[in-house]
Amino acid sequence: MSKRSFSLRSPLDMHIHFREGAMMRRVAPLSAETFAGGVIMPNLVPPVDNLDRLSKYEREIRETVDGHAFEPYMTLFMRPYTESELASMKDRIIGVKLYPEGVTTHSEGGVGNLRDIEGTLALMEELDIRLMVHGESTDFVMDRERAFLPVYEDLAARFPRLAIVMEHITTRESAELLDRHENLSATVTLQHLLITLDDIAGGLLNPHLFCKPIAKRPEDREALLALALEAHPRLAFGSDSAPHPVDKKESAGCAAGVFTAPIALQMLVGLFEEHGALDRLQAFVSDNARRIYGVAPPEKTVVFEKTGAVIPERYGDVIPMYPGRELDWKVAEVR
Ligand code: DOR
Ligand code: ZN
Repeated sequence: MSKRSFSLRSPLDMHIHFREGAMMRRVAPLSAETFAGGVIMPNLVPPVDNLDRLSKYEREIRETVDGHAFEPYMTLFMRPYTESELASMKDRIIGVKLYPEGVTTHSEGGVGNLRDIEGTLALMEELDIRLMVHGESTDFVMDRERAFLPVYEDLAARFPRLAIVMEHITTRESAELLDRHENLSATVTLQHLLITLDDIAGGLLNPHLFCKPIAKRPEDREALLALALEAHPRLAFGSDSAPHPVDKKESAGCAAGVFTAPIALQMLVGLFEEHGALDRLQAFVSDNARRIYGVAPPEKTVVFEKTGAVIPERYGDVIPMYPGRELDWKVAEVR
């Protein structure tokens, strides 16, 4: 008989958008309910790029998830930093996130020319601060990640002691790059294991599946899924759960971002079960991240039961991925 119950220890989401204010109060507790920790992205307006902003943002998060065993791993928005700035914030962050200028939501203040941050990267390598990267160029939309790969190769080779995370990889080529440089690791989202461009734009346009980087071709999805199902040792789960109010999604000029935080784990259990890989899920959603990032999250056990559930149509004014869809697995207990 197939399994009816399954548990995960301290699942981690190594790429989340919590936003601020009312939106944070809506979404952050949903992550903190089941995840034991997560990497919090810094693309706010204005960005999280100094000690004062970092401290205030961290405090807001801790107040919002109070009562849950959840550790926020904070990040800084990349700009040229001085050594004393980095030294003062080093112990409070898990890394610095590089957004190339203009490639996604709130990246207007991102890096226009990589030469501007050469000195900062050298300091980060010296101070042992991780670099996290939104790896896209401004080429044709389906080619942006591929066009960025030489940048990863160049950085990995020139800064061999700099730990570099390729965030939310979406292509077969990125999956392959992981094995070529020891200082590279990657995160992958739920949606990029499940969908291709066809699901977004092949029929009626589905704004709730639109994100950056955009989902690619079937062979890309297959390569990413294979990497996740084997729990490749340098791959961690990062949902890139990115909430936007419904009027920003169901509109001309749809904002990029898929909201998956409250359903990601249940769906991963179903996906790994379907592929006979449930025994690898613990590594993919927790153990790999502990090792790659050197974190020790709070203890938490999430028990799933195969009794069926339905994805809510809405969480306030946020529509999740696959509203109304039936799931095999639900969260039965968190302890
Ligand atoms: O789809 C996305 N949404 N991709 C990103 O890189 C940013 C995110 C957001 O902040 O909404
Ligand atoms: Zn993101």
